[in-house]
Amino acid sequence: MLEDLKARNLAWARRKTETDAGFFKRLVGQQAPQYLWIGCADSRVPANEIVDLDPGELFVHRNVANLAPPQDANYLSVLQFAVDVLKVRHILLVGHYGCGGVAAAVDGKRRGLVDHWLHPIREVRHDHRHELDAIVDDRARLDRLCELNVIRQVRNVASDVFVQDAWARGQDLSVHGWVYSLANGLVTDLDVTVSNVAEMQG
Ligand code: CO
Repeated sequence: MLEDLKARNLAWARRKTETDAGFFKRLVGQQAPQYLWIGCADSRVPANEIVDLDPGELFVHRNVANLAPPQDANYLSVLQFAVDVLKVRHILLVGHYGCGGVAAAVDGKRRGLVDHWLHPIREVRHDHRHELDAIVDDRARLDRLCELNVIRQVRNVASDVFVQDAWARGQDLSVHGWVYSLANGLVTDLDVTVSNVAEMQG
């Protein structure tokens, strides 16, 4: 199996340089992505492929259920580097319908460490329990929770001090909430974009 991956890697690298001889040389020189993607680790949600971007064009952070927890040093390190050093213009918080992490957060089963990781989703469910309880269909209720989770994570990112400081010094930066559909490959913009301090407070 691994030999197959190595062969695929070789073929891929060759294809890249066939169409653009300087492709990898340029990337060695610098990376200057305009976007930070914060998405789910799910293998069916490959960041670059979904938005059809090449290496170098998308800075990516993925974890189970696309969370942006304000105490997570991994996510915070990525966020600060993207905002302060790369100076990305857009942060895309991308959830997906049918997220196993979101489902696992609220199914009542015990799994171990991941139960702690997924705790923020149970808080989202609690905060929106009236809306969610009114949805009869189980799948539709979970899909709505996926959306509400994205909206909460957008607020986490937008309220972070790195982002707040960037806005205070006039940096052009927007935080967006998207949901990806495994069923048709399309993203939906949840229209919760935050681009300055006033929008965050509003
Ligand atoms: Co997921």
